[in-house]
Amino acid sequence: MDEMVNVGKCQNIPNGEGRKCTVKGEEIGIFNTGGEFFAVANRCPHEGGPLSDGILLGNEVVCPIHSRKIDLKTGRVAKEDLENKTFEVSVKNDEIFIHP
Ligand code: FES
Repeated sequence: MDEMVNVGKCQNIPNGEGRKCTVKGEEIGIFNTGGEFFAVANRCPHEGGPLSDGILLGNEVVCPIHSRKIDLKTGRVAKEDLENKTFEVSVKNDEIFIHP
């Protein structure tokens, strides 16, 4: 069966913000875009910037280091041939689960 890891309550991540957590030794950024939650590897695929500290623009996070935009649904970096790892997310009873 599909493994799920509880990474905390929805209210711990305000709308328009991101938080980081560690699942199986991997740092993951979790983002709330208007009540929809996304999870991507927290290290920017460019040079490792901490994406959970970035600013959200719709479904993209702007990396705080060199301002590349990463699509939270696809992991694609805008205008570049770079891609970030994404994780399936589900919400049950106000708890967020990552499928690592
Ligand atoms: S480290 Fe993220 S854009 Fe350079």
